[in-house]
Amino acid sequence: MCGIVGYVGPQQAAPVLVEGLTRLEYRGYDSAGIAVANPRSTAHPSRVVRAKGRVRDLEAALPARLAGTAGIGHTRWATHGEPSERNAHPHTSFDGRVHVVHNGIIDNFATLRARLAADGVELASDTDTEVVAHLVARELAGQDGKGLGFEDAVRAAVAQVDGTYALAVLDAQAPDRVVVARNGSPLLLGVGDGEMFVASDAAAIVRHTSQVVLLDDGDFASVTADGFRTFTADEEHTARDAVTIDLTVEELELGGHAHFMHKEIHEQPESVERMLSGRLDDRFGTAKLDGLNLDPRAMRRFARVKILGCGSAYYVGQLGASMIEDLARIPADAEPASEFRYRNPIIEPSTLYVVVSQSGETADTLFAVREIQRKGGTVVGLVNAVGSSIAREVDGGIYLHAGPEVAVASTKALTHMSVGFALLALALGRVRDLSFADGTRIIAGLRAIPGQIAQVLADEEDLAAAARDLSAAASLFFVGRVRGYPVAREGAQKFKEITYRHAEAYPTSELKHGPLALISPELPTVAIVPDDDLLERNLTAAQEIRARGGSVVAITHPGVDLGDAATQRIEVPRNEVELDPILLTVPTQLLGYHAAVALGEDVDRPRNLAKSVTVE
Ligand code: F6R
Repeated sequence: MCGIVGYVGPQQAAPVLVEGLTRLEYRGYDSAGIAVANPRSTAHPSRVVRAKGRVRDLEAALPARLAGTAGIGHTRWATHGEPSERNAHPHTSFDGRVHVVHNGIIDNFATLRARLAADGVELASDTDTEVVAHLVARELAGQDGKGLGFEDAVRAAVAQVDGTYALAVLDAQAPDRVVVARNGSPLLLGVGDGEMFVASDAAAIVRHTSQVVLLDDGDFASVTADGFRTFTADEEHTARDAVTIDLTVEELELGGHAHFMHKEIHEQPESVERMLSGRLDDRFGTAKLDGLNLDPRAMRRFARVKILGCGSAYYVGQLGASMIEDLARIPADAEPASEFRYRNPIIEPSTLYVVVSQSGETADTLFAVREIQRKGGTVVGLVNAVGSSIAREVDGGIYLHAGPEVAVASTKALTHMSVGFALLALALGRVRDLSFADGTRIIAGLRAIPGQIAQVLADEEDLAAAARDLSAAASLFFVGRVRGYPVAREGAQKFKEITYRHAEAYPTSELKHGPLALISPELPTVAIVPDDDLLERNLTAAQEIRARGGSVVAITHPGVDLGDAATQRIEVPRNEVELDPILLTVPTQLLGYHAAVALGEDVDRPRNLAKSVTVE
């Protein structure tokens, strides 16, 4: 949600900022802007350029010369105020001196705006962020000309603010530094050779450095070309060390693919193979998950498992719950973290809480972690982004190692989540009732997955043709039963978020209780029809759709006789029944992708969405 980048060093800041923003565009893309400070110019000590639209629109708006060696930039996902140039960041103080970019939400912005307006400050935008620029400027100016220094002014301004923030502030009269503050929104520093960077996400600075300092909530930092200083709201110095991040520029390039989503779908065979390496224990027929920080005794102690995530991560959580029930025979369920955190949940010491997140920064999921921990629960995480807030706050976890995911619509990270749940279910099962033989069977199934995903992807042409047909419908159903239902939910989610078509998921078993009324030749259904003990029932439901004139695209296994229950057949290789949903999901990724391409939509940046939802 919104991307932030900052630079201080010997280079011209503007191109560095714009390049960084391009890499962050997936976090928000309704407007963008930069501010640079130029120590050599007394006429224009700082300048701001902003534009509605994409980073390329900002680039087009930049003047030929925009000198300055310190600066801040932002790409926005609107929360307060419509997407427009006046609401784009950076926001500037009444005296033109202070510029601010912000990710998060200032909860008391209305009170602060009213107070500023009463004091005669003219507010130039509808945002919550703008108040921060004015507050800092006021602290710098002080009363009777006795203002605070830049760092103290930022601390004093932030003390008046309630809410979540990653803030980067530029003072035209201190053009050698950027001051930042973090509370609840990701922020890191990049350490270069004689230059320093600020970013909400390492992707923005990976071209320049792999040394990053991850800031914690409550941290402030003052960043100059030759280093940084971190401190608290009480002006106590803190020690923050740089760590090396494992991210390359190539991972953030399209690499010959038309879209990041396509690239990420095709990366899955290799990335899943990498994720599994070193984690399968043939000797004991189990999974090696040291990061969980749970010994076998602790694992046996849990009477229930509760999985929490948002959006697609929640759907994978549902899959995970059925894997845990199947393999470990522990009652398990999944719930949207966004609901859980608001309903005063009862936290039981005998329940293992599992949060699942690609970004590791989803605010609802992070708050769920904190609520569980406050009430004494044990919470582990399945997280992709290394060093993210959730990864740092959970009691233990499994890193998903999917690599960066740039497309807003998640694909490979979700596959990694479901593989992660299979590993967790296996480990929990093997310290309980799951036999060595069954453990070995699941291990063999997991080893087969990368090659089987590659087999599904090899049928891309057929899937693209089916997707083109589906894209003609204004509305469609995705249906699946028991293990197939989360697959249907995720299939519908992917389809709707990038095609803007109404795609609704139903349990197949529920069709006859209402939704069948909608079936017509205009409303196609994608049905998940695996070769399992529910096959006959799934075929009957598909026949009922056909009998009412509806078409059915069946995602099924080789050898299944669909008869005339389906108008189109998509096959995925058979694995172990508990793991089949992992593979059944892969064709739905390509259905969504190719339907969106056929409709000419912006696949990687769907409207109204952003990659990680760091606001409530
Ligand atoms: C869908 C999608 C979202 C995310 C959700 C959680 O394609 O990407 O539904 O799954 O916002 O995000 P993370 O996994 O980062 O917590």
